[in-house]
Amino acid sequence: MRREESNVLSLDFFREYPCISHGKGIYMYTEDGREIIDGASGPVLMSLGHGITEMGDVMKAQSDKLAYCHRDDVITSVLKESCKKISELSGGHLSRIFQVAGGSEATEIAIKLIRKHQIYKGCQGKYKIISRWQSYHGISNGALSISGFSKRRAGYEPYMTDFSKIPPAYCYRCWFGKEPGKCNLECAQALEDTILCEGPENVAAFVAEPISGMSLCAAEPAEGYFKKIREICDKYDVLLVLDEVMTGMGRSGKYFASEYFGIKPDMAIMGKAVSGGYFPLGAVGISEKVYKPMVDAKGTFPPGYSWSGNPLGAAVSLKAMEYLEKYNLVERSAKMGAYLRKRLEEVLYPHPTVGDIRGRGLMIGIELVKDKETKECIDPSVDYTGQMMMGALEKDMLIEGSSGCNKGQSGNTLMISPPFVVTEEQIDVIVERLEAVLTEVEKRNGF
Ligand SMILES: Cc1ncc(COP(=O)(O)O)c(C=O)c1O
Repeated sequence: MRREESNVLSLDFFREYPCISHGKGIYMYTEDGREIIDGASGPVLMSLGHGITEMGDVMKAQSDKLAYCHRDDVITSVLKESCKKISELSGGHLSRIFQVAGGSEATEIAIKLIRKHQIYKGCQGKYKIISRWQSYHGISNGALSISGFSKRRAGYEPYMTDFSKIPPAYCYRCWFGKEPGKCNLECAQALEDTILCEGPENVAAFVAEPISGMSLCAAEPAEGYFKKIREICDKYDVLLVLDEVMTGMGRSGKYFASEYFGIKPDMAIMGKAVSGGYFPLGAVGISEKVYKPMVDAKGTFPPGYSWSGNPLGAAVSLKAMEYLEKYNLVERSAKMGAYLRKRLEEVLYPHPTVGDIRGRGLMIGIELVKDKETKECIDPSVDYTGQMMMGALEKDMLIEGSSGCNKGQSGNTLMISPPFVVTEEQIDVIVERLEAVLTEVEKRNGF
C-alpha cells in the first residue's frame, strides 16, 4: 500500500483522504469537485452547518479588537457575556463557567474543580471519581482515566489513574440481563454499591454522559435512572458531573440533555456545539453548591491552559448561542432528529443486521448485529463499522462509527448526526445512501 505523501500525520497512514476546500450547510466540497454530505458533523461537532459568514465576521471583528489576553491577569466583556449566556441557557443553575479549548480540556478542568471543591469544603479524603464502562470523556490522560471506552483506552492504561467504573446504562445489552421497564435500575444501584466499597469518605464525584456518545452511540438510560443516580450522589455527598460535550447545546434536541431526565447536575462539561463548530472550545459550568465552599474558604482556582477564557473563543461561542436562538436550531434539531429516526427505523429495521436504532435530537445511533434475535455481534475481524464508513464515503457521505460496544470485545455501532440545518429532503437522501451502503455491505459479508 502506498503511504500518504503529505506531512500531515493522519489517522490511517495508508489512506488517501479527500481534500476539502470549502463547505456549505450539510455539505463539504473537495478540491477535485466532489460534494460530500457531512452526515456526522465531523465527530458530532459541527452543529450550525458549514460556511456561515456571520461566524467568520464575528471572529474577524474580535480579532481586530483583541485576539488574545490571559485569564490569570485580566478579563474581557465578551468572556463575561459568553459565560452569562451559557449560564442563562442552564436556567441559571450553572452559575460559574470556565472556558477552555475543547472537550478533553474541559474534563481535565472538571477533575481539578471536583478536587478543589472537596478540599475547600474540608473533605480532603474525597478524591476518587467513579464513572462508567463504555463512556468517553476525552483523550488526555486524566479524561481517559475516567473514560471506560475500552477501545480508546487500549495501550495507554499504564499512564492512567485507576478509578472504579460501574456498568453502563445500556438497555439493548443490559449487563444485568434485564429488559427495559422490567428492571430495578441495577445499573444505577451499582453506583451506591461502588461508593460503599470505595468508602464514601473517599469518593468525590460521579461522572457520566446523559446520553452515550461514540462508545455506545446514543444509548440512553431507562426511565428513572438519573433520578436514582442524583439521590445516591446526594446521600453520600458525591458530586454529580454530567458530560454534555456531545449532547449539549442542541445536539440532543435540548440545550442540555439532562433536561430530558428532570435532574440538575452539580457540574456540566461542555464542548463541540458550544462554539457551533467554528472555534476550538470547551467549558465547565458549576452550580453554586460547588462554588460556594470555594468562596467561603477564600480559595482560588489557578489551574488553566494558556488559551483558557480567550476572547476569540468567547466571541464565537456567544455568536453561536445567539445563532441557535435566532434560527430556532435547538427545536429544529429535535424535529429533524425525530424525522431522521423515523425514516431510519422504516428503512433500515427490515435489514438483517440492524439490531437497534436509538437516540434523540440529531444524534441517532444504529447498532449492527449478526443475529437480531440473539444480538450476537459480527466477527470483529471483518471491521463491519469500517466497511460501512468507507462504503458511505464512496457514496459521498461521511458517517461516524465505533466498535467494541459489547464490553470492548465486539459490537458495531454507527452515529448519524448531520448539522442542525439539515432538511427533510436531505435526510431522505442520507437514509437512501445509507441503505444502499448497508445493502452492499450485508451482501459482501454473506447476510
Ligand atoms: C462525551 C464526550 N466528552 C468529551 C469528549 C472530548 O472532547 P474533545 O474531543 O473536544 O477533546 C468527547 C469527544 O468526542 C465526547 O464525546
